[in-house]
Amino acid sequence: MNARREMGSMLEGQIAIVTGSGEGIGAGIATTLGEFGAKVAITDIDLSRAQRRVEILASQGIESMAVQHDVTDGESGKRLVQQVLSAYGRVDLLVNNAGISGRVPLEEMSDQVWDSMIGVNLTGVQRTSRAVVPVMKEQRGGNIVSISSVAGRSGKANMTHYCSTKFGVIGFSQSLALELASFDVRVNSVCPGIVRTQMWEVELGEISEAKGISIEEAWEMVLSGIPLHRSQLPEDIGAAVAFLASPLAKNITGQALNVDGGFELS
Ligand SMILES: NC(=O)c1ccc[n+]([C@@H]2O[C@H](COP(=O)([O-])OP(=O)(O)OC[C@H]3O[C@@H](n4cnc5c(N)ncnc54)[C@H](O)[C@@H]3O)[C@@H](O)[C@H]2O)c1
Repeated sequence: MNARREMGSMLEGQIAIVTGSGEGIGAGIATTLGEFGAKVAITDIDLSRAQRRVEILASQGIESMAVQHDVTDGESGKRLVQQVLSAYGRVDLLVNNAGISGRVPLEEMSDQVWDSMIGVNLTGVQRTSRAVVPVMKEQRGGNIVSISSVAGRSGKANMTHYCSTKFGVIGFSQSLALELASFDVRVNSVCPGIVRTQMWEVELGEISEAKGISIEEAWEMVLSGIPLHRSQLPEDIGAAVAFLASPLAKNITGQALNVDGGFELS
């Protein structure tokens, strides 16, 4: 393999599913995968978001399809896979990206908040992977990349629920990597640091209120904790996913890759 020649079109002909990709990091991942030649199923619980993303990608010359999909619902996952197979005939890459976040001390955390976090961020990864695995086994090849977090690497106060899911995603991926290795299906995780999506806008609002500072001052405070002193862009996470899904990473499985500007080291 000539790595330099391979890179521009390293996902040419591949069919990818990216969950929760109407907005945020998932949208960035879908864009990057498309730029490397993949066709992408944009799935989201909010169909109109997915449809808007498909229009944006089309304007960039990227072929994609919108699918309404709730990652917590196994039947919805099966329907998703059928729709993608009908349209494109195969599934080479699943990116488990859909997720929710929040901060609340344990003793104030309702069962509903805990269950919903586990449901979307962890059970959602299991449900969607389970729907895709038979197809990849049959193809004798494929990639699953799940979006964990730096919160899957070390604990964060008031995030017992979120951290439990993100540590869980890494354990799930390591186990599945071993289960599927003989089918040449690789399973990895990516751990983003701080990406200013809607998820972080909510956090910034909370920090600014708690500290009595403006949103932009709160953002500067967050950035000052990153050794490279810059946030990560959705496309940075997309680049890591594209690499892991590409032939360049053919010997990488069961790994978790931090894309965090050094945040976890500091
Ligand atoms: N933003 C960050 O700094 C950051 C850092 C580390 C990890 N992450 C992880 O990256 C992933 C994406 O986060 P984001 O910041 O883009 O979030 P976001 O809130 O901006 O976007 C999440 C998307 O997922 C969709 N979604 C929510 N619940 C769903 C469900 N049940 N089924 C299908 N789709 C659903 C939403 O409609 C939305 O389009 C999450 O797993 C998150 O935990 C984010």
